[in-house]
Amino acid sequence: MKNITSNMKKLLYLWKRSQVPIKQPTKVSKIDNLIIFLICILISIISSYKFLLISPLNLSSIFSWLLTFAETLISSWILILVSKKENPTINSRQIILIISLLLVVQAAKLSLASTISPLSMIIPPALIISQGMGSITALAWVSIASLSWPDPSIAVNSNLFFISLVCASVVAVLGGRIRSRAQLLQLSIFVPIGALLSQWILIANDKISLIDKQEIVFGNGKIFSDSLLLAIVMLFTILCIPIFESIFGLLTKARLLELADKEKPLIRRLSLEAPGTFEHTLLICGLAEEATRMINGDVDLIKTGALYHDVGKLHAPNWFIENQDGSKNPHDEIDDPFRSAEVLQAHVDEGLKFARKNRLPKPIANFIPEHQGTLKMGYFFQKAKEKNLKISENDFRYKGPIPQSKETAILMLADGCEAALRAMNINATDNEAIQTISKIIYSRQKDGQLDNSDLSLGEIYLIKRAFLNVWKRIRHRRIQYPTTKNNTFS
Ligand SMILES: [Fe+2]
Ligand SMILES: [Fe+2]
Repeated sequence: MKNITSNMKKLLYLWKRSQVPIKQPTKVSKIDNLIIFLICILISIISSYKFLLISPLNLSSIFSWLLTFAETLISSWILILVSKKENPTINSRQIILIISLLLVVQAAKLSLASTISPLSMIIPPALIISQGMGSITALAWVSIASLSWPDPSIAVNSNLFFISLVCASVVAVLGGRIRSRAQLLQLSIFVPIGALLSQWILIANDKISLIDKQEIVFGNGKIFSDSLLLAIVMLFTILCIPIFESIFGLLTKARLLELADKEKPLIRRLSLEAPGTFEHTLLICGLAEEATRMINGDVDLIKTGALYHDVGKLHAPNWFIENQDGSKNPHDEIDDPFRSAEVLQAHVDEGLKFARKNRLPKPIANFIPEHQGTLKMGYFFQKAKEKNLKISENDFRYKGPIPQSKETAILMLADGCEAALRAMNINATDNEAIQTISKIIYSRQKDGQLDNSDLSLGEIYLIKRAFLNVWKRIRHRRIQYPTTKNNTFS
């Protein structure tokens, strides 16, 4: 009997879940897929065709060609998979950028390998990819670009190959973490200096180890000019990064920090026209930032995303309780739960319009619908029920989608806990605060809102602790300290 009841409960839960709109995967159009496939084929042809030019053409050269062709094609496919895994919101333009850079480098190796050092060919694209797509994608790109050499008659000095691989890997790792243009400039100075020193130590004294027949892509006198060229190309790349950001919608750390500037016109408008929402936003930024740091997520992304999550409320600020300031509540005046639900949904739809108008990158715009997910507008749903109106629960749910990343899920939880924590009694204990937080988080979990977010139970526990820490900070700020006449300013 117990089994039947639990199975019935599971079925009821699944049925309820099926009534909620589900995850919308990023779509890549057929044309984009075809373009990506053709570029991959082109990379494979460029990387392997020289094997077919070896005369006399024998079975082993054909086999080598086939092997290199397949190897490059599979490597490009793995690179795309890695970039998709690291950036779930990646779009086709960005995939095209990553593989086009690989195509350019392979073509450059064919035509310029004997004149330009591999350092200048591999490191600058690695910098662009690490800034826009993250370190793991950049590392995958660097390994393919370093290992695949299209011309079998050209061999790179093994030490030079090692130096370029190390320098490019350093750029790939640091590039993904760098948070300002100034740090980028430092990187463009220190990496060429590092390359110069290591070439001088490892290669300048190692000329004996070069193998005869091969055309060596290195000349001893070129050490300095190669490093200088690398510095120039890196500086030029840094200058071009903003262009890549706008053409390919790349979201670099520097761009994130620029967007988080509170002097941005949209944020200024929010602070002037919807001060209550602005205050709510700032508190949410604090909660979300602390929680994201605790689970080792992307703090810069959530800080910026949180800042823009409710910009849609600018379409009708006084319809939201935080901006009413004791004045009349328009929802009471219209006394229509359906219209009120429409106004609430409009803060998501209008937010997305603001995001488009202000050219906000997609990962930031995603916070707007995902922070509300498919949550029920409980208050108006209850009101409609009291009025005995013919209603469906879906009419009183946000349109979604539910959070698709850890960061948007944390924002949803912070959004839910903010009002409750703000309203908590100053004398409340930590236990009471954690109970309130747990109740709110559990209700969202039970509603299936966190199902696509990848948050583990351990991470949810850490998020609760982070929210508690922020609440303790707020409580500390609210404590009135006694001031004496003589000690007013200390
Ligand atoms: Fe909202
Ligand atoms: Fe909000």
